Amino acid sequence: MNINNSQVMLIGASGGIGQATAKALAAAGARLILVGRNQASLSTLQSELTNSQQHQILLADISSPSGILAIKQLAQALAQQGQAIDVLINNAGYNSFALLSQRSAQQIEQELKVNLLAPMQICQALLSHLKQPGYIVNIGSTFGSIGYPGYTSYCAAKAGLQRFTEALDRELSHTGIRSFYLAPRATDTALNSQAVNRLNQQLGNKTDSPEVVAKHLLTMLRKEIPCKWIGWPEKFFARLNQLFPRLVAAAIDKQKESIHQHLNRVKH
Ligand SMILES: NC(=O)c1ccc[n+]([C@@H]2O[C@H](COP(=O)([O-])OP(=O)(O)OC[C@H]3O[C@@H](n4cnc5c(N)ncnc54)[C@H](OP(=O)(O)O)[C@@H]3O)[C@@H](O)[C@H]2O)c1
Repeated sequence: MNINNSQVMLIGASGGIGQATAKALAAAGARLILVGRNQASLSTLQSELTNSQQHQILLADISSPSGILAIKQLAQALAQQGQAIDVLINNAGYNSFALLSQRSAQQIEQELKVNLLAPMQICQALLSHLKQPGYIVNIGSTFGSIGYPGYTSYCAAKAGLQRFTEALDRELSHTGIRSFYLAPRATDTALNSQAVNRLNQQLGNKTDSPEVVAKHLLTMLRKEIPCKWIGWPEKFFARLNQLFPRLVAAAIDKQKESIHQHLNRVKH
C-alpha cells in the first residue's frame, strides 16, 4: 500500500513502539489518529510529528465499553466526511511478569481485555467504516507462539490475537480489507520491568529498539505481508514450537532457575 496521504488510527500511540511507529508513519506522509489514555504524552508526541497539525488525538481506555464506542464514533464520523480510515493498528498492550498462582483475577482479566478482547472489539467496530482497500495490523508477540513461564495470560491473549487475525483475514477475503499480524520479540520499552530486562540480559536475549519494530511495521504495510515475526532466533523458535514443542520445552526448562530467580524479585 501507499502510506503517503493515508489515514491511520494508531491505538496505543503513547507507548514505546507506538511513538516510534507514529513518527515513522508521519514521516512517510500518513495522517494519524493517536489513541491512548494520556493526554499529555499524546500531545507531546503530536507536537514532535512531521506535519503535526494534520494529526489528531483521541482519548480512550480500550478496556472500557465507552473507549470502544469513542473509537467507533470517530471512525464513523471520518467515513461520513469522506476521510475513512485506511489503516487500523491495534498496538496497545499490557502485561505483568508473574506466576499464575501470584496473579489476581483482575490482572488476568485486564491482560485478556487489553491484548485480545479490545483489539477484537475495535476491529468489529471499525469494519464497516474502513476504506476499501483497508488494512488492520494487530501487534502480537513472540509469546503468542511460545508459552513462557511468568506470562501465562499474556501468552494466551497474544496467541488468541494471532488466530483471530488469521481467521479475520480469511473471513474478509475478497472484501478489500486485510488483517495482518506482527510479532515483535523483546523490545526496549516501559512494558518490561527491571526484573524482565535483567532476565533478558542474563539469558542473552536480544532486545530491539522500538524504531526497529516500527520499520518492520511499515515494511509490512508497504509490501502487504500478512504476518511477520521479528528477529532470529525467536522466529525460528516460534515455528519449532509448533512442530516440536518438546524441544522448546527442554530449552526453556534449562532457563528455569534464572526465570524463577527474577520472578521472585517482582513485587506484587
Ligand atoms: N516491549 C516488548 O518487549 C514487546 C514485545 C513484544 C510485543 N510487544 C507488544 O507491542 C505493543 C506495544 O507495546 P510497548 O512495548 O510499546 O509497550 P508500552 O510502552 O508499555 O506501551 C503500551 C501502550 O498501550 C497503551 N495502553 C495500555 N492499556 C491501555 C488501555 N486500557 N487503553 C488504551 N491504551 C492502553 C498505552 O497507553 P497509555 O499511555 O494510555 O498507558 C501505551 O500507549 C503491545 O501490544 C505489546 O504487547 C511488546
